[in-house]
Amino acid sequence: MTGLFRLTHVLAPLNPPGKGQYKQANAHWVKDSLDVNDHGSMRQTERLPADAVGLAQAAAILRRSGLVAFPTETVYGLGADATDAEAVARIYAAKERPSFNPLISHVDSFRTARSQGAFDEMATRLAEAFWPGPLTLVVPVAPTCTISDLARAGLDSIGLRVPAHPLAHALLEQVGRPVAAPSANRSGRVSPTDADHVLGDLDGRIDAVLDGGASRVGVESTIVSCLGGVPRLLRPGGIPREAIEALLGKRLQGGPEAGSNPLAPGMLASHYAPRAQVRLNATSLRAGEAALLFGASAPQGIEMAHATLNLSKNGDLVEAAAHLFSYLRQLDASGAATIAVSPIPETGLGEAINDRLKRAAAER
Ligand code: TXA
Ligand code: MG
Repeated sequence: MTGLFRLTHVLAPLNPPGKGQYKQANAHWVKDSLDVNDHGSMRQTERLPADAVGLAQAAAILRRSGLVAFPTETVYGLGADATDAEAVARIYAAKERPSFNPLISHVDSFRTARSQGAFDEMATRLAEAFWPGPLTLVVPVAPTCTISDLARAGLDSIGLRVPAHPLAHALLEQVGRPVAAPSANRSGRVSPTDADHVLGDLDGRIDAVLDGGASRVGVESTIVSCLGGVPRLLRPGGIPREAIEALLGKRLQGGPEAGSNPLAPGMLASHYAPRAQVRLNATSLRAGEAALLFGASAPQGIEMAHATLNLSKNGDLVEAAAHLFSYLRQLDASGAATIAVSPIPETGLGEAINDRLKRAAAER
């Protein structure tokens, strides 16, 4: 695990190449940046347009080790050059992430992915079927891997994904290197599905956000590890388990409880959390609660609700997933102490939605 111990060294000489964007570029950069940020922005975060000029700027910032949030079809990612450990370290600083979880490295094609990771027959079939798209494959590192060990949290495996969003794809092509990107929110907050969410959490902490509008899928990628033997579901997400199992003709190992698997430390129960308490499977409402509904039937006492949003009046799980984080944010911002969530079926994308909701409801 030398990668973990090296982090302190990586953070020490943070001496960013940008001109004057950092208030201080010395050994205390991380601490200073956080202090300064409580009182006001320490650097300008640019909102870049979704055109050729914006793309070129975003790629240039990433190539000189800056931080750029960018849209993917799942959620917005906070990107940094995955081959540059200092750049990756700044992701943790900007997010105030308390632990060094392995990050997903985003690449422009399966071909590029193969130069970074070792794909067995199963992994190859999954990549060919679902890339580009909301699937992350954890595979052993290839001998030609250039991704920093900080991005891998010192593991001998690597999480790789080819996103389907056209802006993400164009950006990755222009950068010409793998881009490490966790969701572009501060640690412990919900994942952002548009540029305003990103700025709400990270304004003044990152160089830019490439504004591509709302994310289509709304929940993160499904993570499957292919490390020999039967592939394992590490995190439910945008590609339903059933679709993967149908393709492979076998059941995946692991399930919703895989959340506590130490191989996926980013899946700790406290990861997705609004400030309000979250009460699940609510069939009746208590005074002062905000209501997050699903489907046509309203819970008892709905007229007492502090605020109400419906993930999908038609009971459409795809629509519900697309609204999930944005609605949680809105109800959280309403000031209610508790968000009561209607029952949501456990089929298709419902597994991922319930997984996120359970994390949001976890004690913290
Ligand atoms: O949709 C997504 O996946 C978004 C967008 C931006 O692509 N990204 C995202 O990244 O959700 P993040 O960092 O929030 O989640 C990455 C997850 C973590 O739980 C991490 O532990 C797991 O992927 N992961 C990455 N590499 C891994 C590895 N080698 N072994 C096990 N888990 C790994
Ligand atoms: Mg996240």
